[in-house]
Amino acid sequence: MNYNIVVLDGDGIGPEICAGAIKVLDAVGKKFGHTFNYTHKLIGGCAIDACGKPLPEDTVEACLASDSVLLGAVGGYKWDNMPVDIRPEKGLLGIRKAMGLYSNIRPAKLWKSLAKASPLKYELVKDGVEIIIVRELTGGIYFGERGKGSTLDGGDFAWDTEKYSVKEIERITKIACELALKRSKKIISVDKANVLESSRLWRKTVHEFAAKNYPEITVEDMLVDNTAMQIVKNPAQFDVVVTSNLFGDILSDEAAQVTGSIGMLASSSLGDSKCGLYEPIHGSAPDIAGKDIANPIATILAAAMMLRDSFGLSAEYAAIENAVQSVLDSGVRTGDIMEEGMKKVGCSEMAKLIAEQI
Ligand code: IPM
Ligand code: MN
Repeated sequence: MNYNIVVLDGDGIGPEICAGAIKVLDAVGKKFGHTFNYTHKLIGGCAIDACGKPLPEDTVEACLASDSVLLGAVGGYKWDNMPVDIRPEKGLLGIRKAMGLYSNIRPAKLWKSLAKASPLKYELVKDGVEIIIVRELTGGIYFGERGKGSTLDGGDFAWDTEKYSVKEIERITKIACELALKRSKKIISVDKANVLESSRLWRKTVHEFAAKNYPEITVEDMLVDNTAMQIVKNPAQFDVVVTSNLFGDILSDEAAQVTGSIGMLASSSLGDSKCGLYEPIHGSAPDIAGKDIANPIATILAAAMMLRDSFGLSAEYAAIENAVQSVLDSGVRTGDIMEEGMKKVGCSEMAKLIAEQI
């Protein structure tokens, strides 16, 4: 089969890690008889530099016409003081919205060979941790009305709004339930229903929708502040977690840190079609850009998720996951996951070794 992939390298380490993922995809193509065609497009800071805006129209058009999109990372010091509408992050938020990617799946998995990398006590993580955060991605406070103003006496104020419709909550609940069916058959829905009206609707809708459509799924509610605590107290209690855009943003960073290796974690963003956007959870790391020391594994695993979740290629997904596992087992590490006695390699070498394992 032929697949057309748009690659949004972005900024910082984006181009290096995407190159690593492409190397591995090509190895998969060769082994399994697929052709992956890549079209590189601009997003984020590099797009601001080239054409004055973080999300050029031809990037959006190419993404919409593609079979799926692989994204590196956006942002960097250089654009930190730009006006809000032309900041690199706007490019990312814009492409999520333009492609209708309302469902962001962020699995935080502790790789057995990296258990010591977790900042938590070994007893807490020794049996493995895999928290799958299902984050609503195109609604809530990220896209609600906002504004700023001044009172007559000159006091400045600003506001953002958290707003969710039943339809938005139902469709993300469906994604979480479908995932849970293949796993523990339990979802934890995270909200702040003791304070927020939008959370009370969230809670009610998740329960009603799941009870009606997925009677075999157990729904547990957890307040977001308690969730933040429970993730570090007992991470193994979590499997599938479903939550709003903002809470998902925050909790997914926390869950990632529990695994000790944000450089290993990938994510998928999908809507109603098979065309999705796949990216590492980490950022553009401008401090190490261009030095060939970044960890390409998160992006390689993001490409693997694309194969499985957008193209239906499960064996190919497994081939990549196994290749990553064998390379880690062989004692090779990038700087971020380096441990005593291991062999340290750079970004391109790590990608090459994984590609060779395929
Ligand atoms: C993420 C990032 C983005 C977000 C930023 C860069 C807009 O933090 O993907 O988690 O908040 O969604
Ligand atoms: Mn984030």
